[in-house]
Amino acid sequence: MSTPFHHVFLPATQPGRPALLLLHGTGADEHDLIDLGRALAPGAALLSPRGRVSENGANRWFRRLREGVFDVDDVIARTHELADFVTDAAAERGIAHQDLVAVGFSNGANIAAATLLLRPGLLAGAVLLAAAAPLQGREPDQVDLTGTRVFLGAGRADTVTPIDQARLLADQLGARGADVRMAEHPGGHALPAPVLAAARDWLDTSGLGGQNPERGRAG
Ligand code: MLT
Repeated sequence: MSTPFHHVFLPATQPGRPALLLLHGTGADEHDLIDLGRALAPGAALLSPRGRVSENGANRWFRRLREGVFDVDDVIARTHELADFVTDAAAERGIAHQDLVAVGFSNGANIAAATLLLRPGLLAGAVLLAAAAPLQGREPDQVDLTGTRVFLGAGRADTVTPIDQARLLADQLGARGADVRMAEHPGGHALPAPVLAAARDWLDTSGLGGQNPERGRAG
């Protein structure tokens, strides 16, 4: 039995769409990314938990020592805790892992990235917006992410998550076989409309959500 998370679940209203696991940024909650999920994949099922770590009252997915410096042991423990919850929630709702795509912003994108690296097979893909390489100084294991599709939106002027972090994450995922689409933009730690439009197009054409030709390999 996994640890429960406060969450919102909205069932799919259209067939053939991926199910989105929505992972909010620091200080937000399970309601924050619902509109984004609807915009990125209209008709998709949405599973949106709330981070269980409190930083002076702000919800997060894992502890950090200060901005940009993560407690990596906590990243690992919390990633498994979230992954266990998602495994149970997906089974309960009849969601196949081959159809499950994380959408995360900032701290939520970081735990989504950690989930890809630490729990291969749980997610078929991910939209990572303002993400860093979550294990920081540690080299992730050589897991096989063949068939996993990842869209990375990263700002070249991001001072919270420097672009080198997003590029390092793209390299780590690509070196493990993931199909990575990197969308760099000139902005900062934000969700610019052109990047969201690109993420939506990518989701529409990625084959995620019942039409993935490599679905047998993902999980
Ligand atoms: C993190 O702590 O995950 C990143 O620094 C982004 C943030 O949440 O501020």
